[in-house]
Amino acid sequence: ARQAQSRMKALAKMESIADILSERVLPFRFPAPDKPLSSPIIRLEHASVGYEPDKPVLRDLDLRIDQDDRIALLGANGNGKSTLAKLLIGKLRLQDGRMRQSKKLRIGYLAQHQIDELNPKETPYDHFRAALPEETTEAQLRARLGGFGFGIDKADTQVADLSGGEKTRLLFALLCLPKPHLMILDEPTNHLDVDSREALAQGLNEYEGAVLLISHDRHLVNVCADRLWVVQEGTVTPYEGSLDDYRTELLRAVRQQQKADKPARDKNGTLSHHTKSGQKHRKRNAAEKRAALTPLKQAAQLAEERLSELQSAQEKLQNILTRPNFFRDMPQKAQELAIKGRQLQIQIAAAEDNWLAAQEAYETALAEE
Ligand SMILES: Nc1ncnc2c1ncn2[C@@H]1O[C@H](COP(=O)(O)OP(=O)(O)OP(=O)(O)O)[C@@H](O)[C@H]1O
Ligand SMILES: [Mg+2]
Repeated sequence: ARQAQSRMKALAKMESIADILSERVLPFRFPAPDKPLSSPIIRLEHASVGYEPDKPVLRDLDLRIDQDDRIALLGANGNGKSTLAKLLIGKLRLQDGRMRQSKKLRIGYLAQHQIDELNPKETPYDHFRAALPEETTEAQLRARLGGFGFGIDKADTQVADLSGGEKTRLLFALLCLPKPHLMILDEPTNHLDVDSREALAQGLNEYEGAVLLISHDRHLVNVCADRLWVVQEGTVTPYEGSLDDYRTELLRAVRQQQKADKPARDKNGTLSHHTKSGQKHRKRNAAEKRAALTPLKQAAQLAEERLSELQSAQEKLQNILTRPNFFRDMPQKAQELAIKGRQLQIQIAAAEDNWLAAQEAYETALAEE
């Protein structure tokens, strides 16, 4: 599939900065599942799920997950990504259809805002103690904690005093204790800095189980996923293209909408209104309407300007990085710039999302006029 190819390319690029990172940030290591299960490990047939009876958020789900799958879930806010995750881990029940799972399947689940569910008064050691059976000795617990970066001082620090990144690491440490066959990660990077995100990407790549990833971090998705599922219009559909294809389609749709909203001039130079929203436009006092829409429009324009600023910064950076022998002649500088490039990439993804959201808000307001 296109995304699988795209992932190979992303992985190849990633290797060049792997070495730099290994010195700066602790790796994420996930244990291999004890025994591989036969595929599919999960199968959904005509399944529906939701929160209220007869009001499914998702329906007609026909999906399967295999033991070697790397799937990313894409879709706008509120479309039902977390809802699917909750169905798969058994937190939500089927409203219709069937779900089959291997009996021995163990899932490691990181919920979207799980960081808030850690007990702020307890330490990482306390959390581990509670999660592991009594027979584990203190030394064994501490050794495991150490493996996730919780040395003596941190292991005995209250959660309230840990950073967001440290809390996330604690959650990962806890979720992989049972050596899961499948990890379902709902927005795992929200509290991780750039280096830790890179380390997580590497850890997931080395992990031998299956991964279902929900993330707005495009780099992480590109590096970790070789299949994409899109959640929209109340169902989940495998997407055949790559993540870049998907983004391009989304952006193109927005641009087309923008064009359609701009009234065109006819031969006589008078404004003609082709679109529905254009026709509605004329009915009201134009100045009044413009005033109401101005902030939204400005927000959308600002978001677009910010995006193109970032994109041209990235282009410049690329030009420098691809100079012949740059890495050999100025290794220090090259490494710095490579990391800068990664940061830019994340900022660009965020700026694109902002722009899409601002544009959508503006268009919704236009349509309501
Ligand atoms: N506990 C709940 N009770 C009732 N409705 C809910 C509940 N949680 C979510 N919903 C609704 O289900 C729909 C899907 O929500 P969900 O959280 O799965 O979306 P999402 O794709 O994960 O969004 P986001 O990108 O913001 O995390 C939304 O309309 C939401 O309002
Ligand atoms: Mg969600």
